[in-house]
Amino acid sequence: MTAQIIDGKAIAAAIRGEIAQDVQDLLTKTGKAPGLATVLVGERPDSATYVRMKKKACAEVGIQSFSVELPGDVSQEQLLQAVQALNANPDVHGILVQLPLPGHIDEEEILGAISLEKDVDGFHPLNIGRLSMKRRDPLFVPCTPRGCIELLDRMHIPIEGKQAVVLGRSNIVGLPVAMLLLHRNATLTICHSRTKNLPDVVRSADILIAAVGRAEMVKGSWIKPGAAVIDVGTNAVDDPSAAKGYRLVGDVDFAEAKEVAGYITPSPGGVGPMTIIMLLRNTVDSARRAYGV
Ligand code: GUN
Repeated sequence: MTAQIIDGKAIAAAIRGEIAQDVQDLLTKTGKAPGLATVLVGERPDSATYVRMKKKACAEVGIQSFSVELPGDVSQEQLLQAVQALNANPDVHGILVQLPLPGHIDEEEILGAISLEKDVDGFHPLNIGRLSMKRRDPLFVPCTPRGCIELLDRMHIPIEGKQAVVLGRSNIVGLPVAMLLLHRNATLTICHSRTKNLPDVVRSADILIAAVGRAEMVKGSWIKPGAAVIDVGTNAVDDPSAAKGYRLVGDVDFAEAKEVAGYITPSPGGVGPMTIIMLLRNTVDSARRAYGV
């Protein structure tokens, strides 16, 4: 069997069209554009690239960008003040503090200082708390997890009653995506570095979400025939034949797994494009909520 490829780029492009339309509707009704503020601390090249991509994606759909860049030795107080200024700005409907923050910064305090109504990353402790409880809807759902579920939904892959296995328990992906699967009535297993008999556990999955950050760790023999495989990993591996000297691969051995799975995302080109689109979605939803339209 060869899996059906879940084309994250194409699905993201379709959703981008819906979002652009929603931005136009908001402009017509209120004269206002949605606004997203990004906060970048320090000089990490990967973080700078992600923030640049997010701002570019905003421009493409008509979302206004607000950019705050602070030095790596910024104090906790200065960073808090920057967040509070954005909280107070009525043209800003979403605030994204790019992670990771430098070691001397108390990340939990910073994320907790973001106005609940502007927490488009969905990382505020209250939003995460609500996500983790029954019948407590968070205002925002974290972007990568929301993107994973959206891929399953747009491919009409049922979740309810299915055996779902999540590899990884990070605050950004593993934990929140597990909560979303539970809300959708999947039967859930979360695996991590101490899990015993990992291949056997993965083989039980009708839906596998791989988010561990280990290049091609999941082998084809670990996949249940017909399973839906969502690969969140994007790992650089040395490749002298590539122009940059490296190439990007997922957490799943794609060549092997696609021969067994029913559905599979490539990486890159699967979950990645969905993360930014869900950020745009959250930002527009926030603006609509702010203006009551
Ligand atoms: N760093 C890695 N992923 C993310 C994300 O989704 N949001 C933020 N703010 N930082 C990140």
